[in-house]
Amino acid sequence: MKTNERVEWQKLTKHYLQIKDLHLRTLFGKNPDRAAQMSLEHAGLFLDYSKNRVVEETLRLLFELARGIELEAEIERLFSGKRINQTENRSVLHMVLRNPPDKPYLVDGVDLMPEVNRVLVKMEQLARRISSGQWLGFTGKPIKNIVNIGIGGSDLGPVMVYEALKAYSNRNLVLRYISNIDATHLAEQLIDLEPDETLFLIASKTFTTQETMTNASSAKAWLLKRLGDESATGRHFIAISTNAEKVAAFGIEPENMLIFWDWVGGRYSLTSAIGFSLMIALGVENFHRLRAGFHRMDQHFRQSPLDVNMPVILGLLGVWYNNFFDAQSYAVLPYDQYLSRFPAYLQQCDMESNGKSVDRDGNRVGYQTGPIVWGEPGTNGQHAFYQLLHQGTKLVPCDFIGFAKPVNAIGIHHEILMANFVAQQKALAFGKSLQELKSENVADNLLPYRTFEGNRPSNTILAEKLTPESLGSLIALYEHKIFVQGIIWNIFSFDQWGVELGKQLAGNILPVLCGEQELAAGQDSSTHALITYLLKFH
Ligand code: F6P
Repeated sequence: MKTNERVEWQKLTKHYLQIKDLHLRTLFGKNPDRAAQMSLEHAGLFLDYSKNRVVEETLRLLFELARGIELEAEIERLFSGKRINQTENRSVLHMVLRNPPDKPYLVDGVDLMPEVNRVLVKMEQLARRISSGQWLGFTGKPIKNIVNIGIGGSDLGPVMVYEALKAYSNRNLVLRYISNIDATHLAEQLIDLEPDETLFLIASKTFTTQETMTNASSAKAWLLKRLGDESATGRHFIAISTNAEKVAAFGIEPENMLIFWDWVGGRYSLTSAIGFSLMIALGVENFHRLRAGFHRMDQHFRQSPLDVNMPVILGLLGVWYNNFFDAQSYAVLPYDQYLSRFPAYLQQCDMESNGKSVDRDGNRVGYQTGPIVWGEPGTNGQHAFYQLLHQGTKLVPCDFIGFAKPVNAIGIHHEILMANFVAQQKALAFGKSLQELKSENVADNLLPYRTFEGNRPSNTILAEKLTPESLGSLIALYEHKIFVQGIIWNIFSFDQWGVELGKQLAGNILPVLCGEQELAAGQDSSTHALITYLLKFH
């Protein structure tokens, strides 16, 4: 059945009309216990969702929808390894990657942990050899520079976590990430590195991705040009992939390959061998602490009743704004500079998962699915786009993410940061009324401009401190939230067919730009004009 034809959905539509104009000022005024009633703490994270435009009945109806859709059974299907990625005929089991090594994870009676542990042990051995200086490059020098080449899920997660946990990293190592096919990325990342001290990690699930394979070949050429011997490759390249054949064809020996499995989706692969750069940079222990944080949230998600389940609550609130208030986007606002890449990471996780318009029965959905995700760290965002959040015509629900303790304690920086963190949410929710402005003697002609209507919703996610554990829980929280929404919208969250057409068309255009083929007749006039322009300067 189509989600929007469900009786629970129709009840929500009716309920929306009844409460859409209720102001958060009124809701908080009527119920002094609202914050206590609408907050919870799990897996090291505290979630306050009281500043949402909901009443008790809204939540009741949202949970009723989740139950009607059999969300609990769907969560169990996910965790038990059912092939829920139907269009690719795959299970979706990233939770196995962060399961404690000594705890079996059975799928159809088979324990997946021995295989996962084998790779973890290999990663640990290699990571220790590299970071301790025992892994020597071709000229006998220890490795100082680690360069991860990958894109999408083979880049965004590792980059984001490396940036987030830099304070925990080995500062004697230089970590670089190359993803873009634009040669500038490669050129700038390698400009100050010595090839004989550089180790490349080629991270690609398929080992066929055009950007990654082209960057890997150029990196190999850069290395061989300086070292002058083909056999140097073995000392300077490690592959992370599911495709042993392609890895061998590239010239990387099996002992320098770390594997993972088709049941790990690219954008959910951070705790697989794809995160190897993190294990090297952060150390083995910190990598396990990160895994442990993910696992705590996995457990919470699998075991908690829906109405006290953080990913479920966040997912349902997202549906409420997306489908009933017609919000087009949501902003993720981490009040921590270390989380500067978190919004970019979430963009892939959320938008590649839920940017779909056909449901699981093959029909057009007929309602809104995945929102646009965007954001910047506070307080920079405050001096950029918060004007629109406060007084613009669009409703943008926000997730504010913050930490009680700073990683870098200097003066009162952290207190200033967190004062802004709290203040912004208060301003969004409660605004500033005409009466308040008048009592401050604001000139009459400025009153309309200086009014803040408020009633702009936000969630608050807080943890004691940014640590590998709290970061792991935070990422898993969003991963599972995205899953919940995919189930509600009845879409396949774990495929990404929408990335294929562009790749295919680029494949046809490339030989023309390389001068190997004539521009085929019958192109649309715009494509024809663009290619003609490019060729003019070739
Ligand atoms: O963007 C499409 C995509 O397939 C992502 O899902 C994936 O994370 C990325 O390309 C990279 O793929 P691979 O790891 O196979 O190189």
